[in-house]
Amino acid sequence: MNIILLRRGILPVAFIIVITGLFFSMRHIAIPFHALYRDASLTIDVRVEDLLSRMTTNEKIGQLALVEKNSITDTSDISSYGIGALLSGGGGNPIQNTPKTWLAMVNDFQHAAQNSRLSIPLLYGVDAIHGHSNVLGATIFPHALGLGATKDTDLVRRIGEITAQEISATGVNWNFSPTVDVVDDTRWGRTYETFSSNPIIVSELSVAYLTGLQSEFVMGTAKHYLGTGAMAWGSSTNPDFKIDQGATLLDETTMRATHLPPFAAAIDAGVNSIMVGHISWNGVELSANHYLLTDVLKNELGFDGFVVSDWNGVDEISSDKYLAMVTAINAGVDMIMLPFDYKTFTTHMKRALDSGAISRERLDDATRRILRAKFSTGLFDTEPVEDEELLTIGSPKHRTVAREAVRKSMVLLKDVNTLPLNKNFSHIVVAGSSANNLGRQSGGWTIEWQGVDGNWIPGTTILDGIKNAVSENTKIEYSDTGFFSARNERADIGIVIVGEAPYAEGAGDNEHPELSTEDLQIIKNVKAISKKTVIIIVSGRPLDIRPYVDSWDAVIAAWLPGSEGNGIADVLFGDYLFTGTLPVNWPL
Ligand code: BGC
Ligand code: BGC
Repeated sequence: MNIILLRRGILPVAFIIVITGLFFSMRHIAIPFHALYRDASLTIDVRVEDLLSRMTTNEKIGQLALVEKNSITDTSDISSYGIGALLSGGGGNPIQNTPKTWLAMVNDFQHAAQNSRLSIPLLYGVDAIHGHSNVLGATIFPHALGLGATKDTDLVRRIGEITAQEISATGVNWNFSPTVDVVDDTRWGRTYETFSSNPIIVSELSVAYLTGLQSEFVMGTAKHYLGTGAMAWGSSTNPDFKIDQGATLLDETTMRATHLPPFAAAIDAGVNSIMVGHISWNGVELSANHYLLTDVLKNELGFDGFVVSDWNGVDEISSDKYLAMVTAINAGVDMIMLPFDYKTFTTHMKRALDSGAISRERLDDATRRILRAKFSTGLFDTEPVEDEELLTIGSPKHRTVAREAVRKSMVLLKDVNTLPLNKNFSHIVVAGSSANNLGRQSGGWTIEWQGVDGNWIPGTTILDGIKNAVSENTKIEYSDTGFFSARNERADIGIVIVGEAPYAEGAGDNEHPELSTEDLQIIKNVKAISKKTVIIIVSGRPLDIRPYVDSWDAVIAAWLPGSEGNGIADVLFGDYLFTGTLPVNWPL
């Protein structure tokens, strides 16, 4: 046996020695190809310690930096600064947005990392929070709140898996998802990013989603630690926002009872990164809170992945950037989403280490955590992604699962003998701002950070879904504005699809979410020409419809269903029953 192993070994070893020699001839310290950290048969701990022992201080510092991809003006900076992670923020797309250009972009960065002394792969992060939604052509699933209405863990696990396949096809290996925030005040612009106001549902669906992601070797992130779903109205530190980036006033008992359990569940499910929110508690920014980050999260809950800060989040600690960085890292932040200025960060880190403001042990601890996450996600052992894998993006198979999610997320808010509709009706009127608008169906974090209004992505609008469902003889009359010519006979049914225009984060904070006067006018117009009217609300949260709902025959909460509008027709025309239930309170 030894002989066989030896024989097998001789040629490759000789070959490797020659190649390694050539490869590293220009470099100061050669790293042998048989270094322990490169050996996939060894344990992660052995590999991490071996790699750590070979790293210079600068290389360790680089691992702590999470940099927005457009800030890298020269890709050789990735190796010279030893940068550990890059991200595309919302809308951080290549100039021409296609799956192929995404793959080429990420591969270019990854090649730059391969050319560094130790060839440590990059983490590349995106907000694929409802499918790989920056990428034109991806399957867009319902936003999390709609999935919260399904309460279907098996479905959410499959969505995690598919999202991971579409992500990996573009070379990306890190998703800033799931959001495990437990939403309290639905006026918050990020309500739709959450699964529910019920911590048990949030925990179960987050674990399901993570299980799906991780089964396809994509790293997930539980965000935003801690209590971000319970920030107080009017507490935002951002002059343009009301709740987002604000403060929570909860006491520790409530914080632990309601907001900590989903993080504990995510840790049990093996989550490798946790993002600290833009939030303060008792006057202290979370990213500066040693007690919550180190004592509770790492020591008490045993989290051995890494803590990553949010976009510019650390700078909220102090206007003195050096002090902010030192405070965050000493509090327990391991990786900083800078996201732009990695050069100053490197200088500041060197200064902090030289002066002892940050200890070498703390630097090693943070680096170790990041490396462990990289090894456990398989980054060191995966083959480069091939172009053929791009075919999985937006595939019919994936869209079928999205359609299933859409129909399961529909919640019937009211029905007075109206539903399901008859596919053989002779005349149906369809109207409304969200009837023929994939951008509104998809909401924020679609192609652009704030989403896109209009039909810019491939998919099926709700109007298309209705057209596909009805009989050949049914006449469908459509007007987005709801203006129809006068007539003697009323339509069999009027379907009005209205709701919110896309928004993301604090831009969506809204003191009184409700239908616009235009939408209400459209409903009036359609009611006047239809025997009965169904209202479908496409929104990121409950809207106040109490003043009008009594005069409507049927109302459906469609949340933000994404690219597969057929799923709405599936329940509207009775092919499937309504099974969704409210994920948050909706006063009626
Ligand atoms: C958001 C995070 C997001 C990050 C990267 C931040 O502003 O709060 O949820 O993951 O940006 O886009
Ligand atoms: C980015 C988002 C990020 C946000 C934070 C935007 O410019 O695209 O990803 O969450 O800034 O303010």
